[in-house]
Amino acid sequence: MPSNPDPKKMVIAIDGPAGAGKSTIARLAARKLDVLYIDTGAMYRALTLKAIRLGMNCQDEPALSELMRNTRIELRNNHDGSIRVLLDDEDVSLAIRKPEVARYVSDVSKAAGVRKEMLGLQRGMGLKAPCVLDGRDIGTVVFPDADRKFFLDADFKERAMRRYKELKEKGEEIVLKEVEADLKNRDTIDSTRECAPLKKADDAIYVDTTHMTIEEVVEYILKYIGAQEHKSTS
Ligand code: CDP
Repeated sequence: MPSNPDPKKMVIAIDGPAGAGKSTIARLAARKLDVLYIDTGAMYRALTLKAIRLGMNCQDEPALSELMRNTRIELRNNHDGSIRVLLDDEDVSLAIRKPEVARYVSDVSKAAGVRKEMLGLQRGMGLKAPCVLDGRDIGTVVFPDADRKFFLDADFKERAMRRYKELKEKGEEIVLKEVEADLKNRDTIDSTRECAPLKKADDAIYVDTTHMTIEEVVEYILKYIGAQEHKSTS
C-alpha cells in the first residue's frame, strides 16, 4: 500500500454483505472526496433485470455469460453523488432495486463468465479516475492493490431491518421475514460460490456498523484514509 497518498487520487475498496451500509457509505465518501463512485452491485443487478425480462433461467451459466457479452451496462455519476444505471441505454436505476431482482441476482452473479466480463468493465472504470468502489470482491479480486480497503459488516438482524426499512420507504409491499430470507440466501450464495466469493481481504479494515450511524461510518473511513489530515494540510 503506498504510504499516505493523496485521498483524492486513491482507489478505495468497500466490500461486505447486503445491508451492511456499503452503498450509502461508499456514495457519501466518494462525494466528500469528490471522486467517482462505482456501485458494482448495481451492474450485477442490471444484468439480472435483463435476464428476468427475457424469462431466462438464472441458473443457466453459459446463457447468462452470453447475455453479458451482448449487454451494455454503464454507470453515470449524478451531481448529488447518486448514480444512474444504464442497461443498453435505458435508465434502470429504480427497476434494479426491486425485490424480484434481489431474489435472482446472486444466482446470476455466480456465473464465472459473467464475472469475467464484469471484472474487465469494473477495472476499466476504476483505472480511469480515482474512485470508491463497493461490492463483494473489490478488495480481493477487482482491485487487490487498492490503496485502502474496508470490509463493512453488521449483525444479521440489523442488516435485515435496514433493508426492510429501505424497501418500505420505497413503497414496496414486503414483510420482514421475506427480507431476512433474501439476505440469508444471498449471503450463503455470495460467500460460498467458487468464483470470487465474498470474503474480507487480509489487508482490509473490518468495520462493524451495527451500532454506528451512517455519519459515524463515513467519518471513520475518511479519517482512516487520511482525508481529514489531507484537507487540513492542503
Ligand atoms: O445492496 P446490496 O448489498 O443488497 O447488494 P448489491 O451491492 O446491490 O449487490 C447485489 C448482488 O450482486 C450481491 O448479492 C452479489 O450477489 C452480487 N455482487 C457480486 O457478486 N460482486 C460484486 N462486486 C457486487 C455485487
